[in-house]
Amino acid sequence: MRYADRMSQLGTETAFEVLAKARALEAKGKTIVHLEIGEPDFDTPATIRQAAIRAIEEGFTHYGPSAGLPEVREAIASYIAKDRGMTVTPDQVVVTPGGKPVLTFSVLACVNPGDEVIVPNPGFPIYESAVRFAGGTPVSLLLREDRQFRFGAADIEPLLTPRTRMVVLNSPHNPTGSVLSPHDLDEIAALLRDREIFVLSDEIYSKILYEGAHETIATRPGMAERTVLLDGFSKTYAMTGWRLGYGVMNPTLAKHVARLATNVYSCATSFVQRAAPAALHGSQDEVRSMVAEFRRRREAIVEGLNAIPGVRCAKPAGAFYVFPNVTALGMKSAELERLLLEEAGVAALSGTAFGSNGEGYVRFSYANSIENIREGLRRFEAFAQGHVKAAR
Ligand SMILES: Cc1ncc(COP(=O)(O)O)c(C=O)c1O
Repeated sequence: MRYADRMSQLGTETAFEVLAKARALEAKGKTIVHLEIGEPDFDTPATIRQAAIRAIEEGFTHYGPSAGLPEVREAIASYIAKDRGMTVTPDQVVVTPGGKPVLTFSVLACVNPGDEVIVPNPGFPIYESAVRFAGGTPVSLLLREDRQFRFGAADIEPLLTPRTRMVVLNSPHNPTGSVLSPHDLDEIAALLRDREIFVLSDEIYSKILYEGAHETIATRPGMAERTVLLDGFSKTYAMTGWRLGYGVMNPTLAKHVARLATNVYSCATSFVQRAAPAALHGSQDEVRSMVAEFRRRREAIVEGLNAIPGVRCAKPAGAFYVFPNVTALGMKSAELERLLLEEAGVAALSGTAFGSNGEGYVRFSYANSIENIREGLRRFEAFAQGHVKAAR
């Protein structure tokens, strides 16, 4: 059978493939330390679960509007207005099953074939995938370790062409944990605000931040109308399997995105949406304690990795990933990913899963218990020592 040409343009997230391989090894009796998948190991807070259970029991099991339930759009608008310090009206909000549809739909709604989109490299692989699927061309913005994987307007400016339609920002960043400073955002906004360019600002890790307060480029003068702010519940409230996210954008784009939703899934699950106001407007104590625990794990993993010969690891400012430099181990990142899994029983991701500039790095997710992180480090160290000796 023949399949559509466009399928060859669609990428993937190898985290799910490594997870499947790891599970297959576990089924054969091997123990694996899971440091591959980006999901909090905590349970969703009880008050949020109860709100959804109540919604099911009240019969909240029917279709809703494609842009989201009105009261949920309202709750998200008031939350973002307060949290980010900007004016937001409910017609700017689209509620989606996870944050991912905001990403793909805003690219489909804004990018024509031949248009260029500047994407961080290394970066979340779905940006590039969505751009190619839309017929666009991803243009790599190099994130450098010696700059703490941050960038500014001076890095973006040389990449701009008359075909540039969108710039993707992701702060805190997957896979490096870098965070753009308020000054970086000011500069980038000043560069872009007078051009016909959208900004996709992926803020899914906005609350997983270890220093300072999160800021969005959408608050900079002239930026609200051209920014798509992506956020959601997966990471902040440990709700990955619920599939609940949202985008905040200008009302015209919100209508386009909602029409794509009508075509693809009609609406985000109604009773799941009813958990959103409970999450956003309820107590944030559990979020604070999850972040405190991530901070403790960050210390342990950064210290542990830097103690391994041949590994150099910068301390990330946000998210729950580390992106150590492993070039001194003398093997390709993809090979290291394979050997770590098969020989050491540690599931991690090759830096190249996040773009060509990820060569020489691997990504570990520290959304796992401190005991498992320590075991993963112990296994990695034994593996690295064996291979460094063998290479000599
Ligand atoms: C940078 C980034 N954006 C978006 C997402 C999508 O999250 P979800 O669709 O679960 O809300 C992820 C998930 O890993 C991510 O790392």
